[in-house]
Amino acid sequence: VIIPIQGVFSDRLRIAIERYGGIPIPIEVDWRRGVVTEQVKEALDKNPDAKAVAIVYNETSTGVTNRCLEEVGKICKERDKLFLVDAISILGGDYLPVDKWNIDICVTGSQKCLACPPGLALISVSKRAWEVIKENKKGTYYFDLELCKDFLERKMETPFTPVLPLFYALDEALQIIREEGLEKRIKRHKICADAMYSAIEAMKLKLFADKEFRSNTVVAVENPQNISDADIRRIMREKYRVLIAGGMGKLHGTMFRIGVMGIVTEREILTTIRCLEKTLISLGYDLKSGVGVSAAMNIFEREPY
Ligand SMILES: Cc1ncc(COP(=O)(O)O)c(C=O)c1O
Repeated sequence: VIIPIQGVFSDRLRIAIERYGGIPIPIEVDWRRGVVTEQVKEALDKNPDAKAVAIVYNETSTGVTNRCLEEVGKICKERDKLFLVDAISILGGDYLPVDKWNIDICVTGSQKCLACPPGLALISVSKRAWEVIKENKKGTYYFDLELCKDFLERKMETPFTPVLPLFYALDEALQIIREEGLEKRIKRHKICADAMYSAIEAMKLKLFADKEFRSNTVVAVENPQNISDADIRRIMREKYRVLIAGGMGKLHGTMFRIGVMGIVTEREILTTIRCLEKTLISLGYDLKSGVGVSAAMNIFEREPY
């Protein structure tokens, strides 16, 4: 399985492939940038017996989104390879036409852009993938997709007791999405992310991702000189009750990450930016109070959602 490695979660997918008996063929990618179609093509040329390409659409650990999925999907179809996508931190927050992009298996989690409590993994399987699954040796009972399909089709049930309260929560979360409309929801994510990026740049902080690969759901910001993300996150949490994340893996201690997903609105964005400004000023960062908020407000005024 060809897998671009560009952060903690794509590396975790590589490990998962290995654990399930696959042979990962990693493509080393610049972590600040997404994988490009040429890199996937090259890997497929070099490994004609590869069976699949697996890509993490949105690398949550770096705030980088791969923008080549449509092209990679076409190539996978042409070359008869399965196309597997981890859309965990992006489905519901950015464009993802699974069938149009020829994605054979797409996975997401309930807790990210769907804004449901954590605990559910949602998966789609293409006709082509079902053919492959049918031929595979059976794995564990609890991860038997064919059994799930059979129960669903015959009885509208799961083969084992599901977390029913989460199913109700998901039902409600999906109803909220339908009420808002998916297009509008994606637009809201984009505008909120643009506002956050604009504020971060106005505050003269450095974004981790290169511009064309910046995620609309996670914003990764490098620590300013001599200020640690641990201090920033602690003050934000304790003083303002705003929770942001730190860096992961080899990026631990180098950055902080701001989630811009789910039910996020102008209110959360402006509140977070203002609290970040006050936190940074209290830590001695040279910043004119209000520049971040003002930059974000410009975006919201120009592009209401
Ligand atoms: C891109 C990506 N893949 C995989 C995972 C792992 O998901 P979970 O923590 O639900 O196992 C995450 C979690 O944040 C993620 O962001």
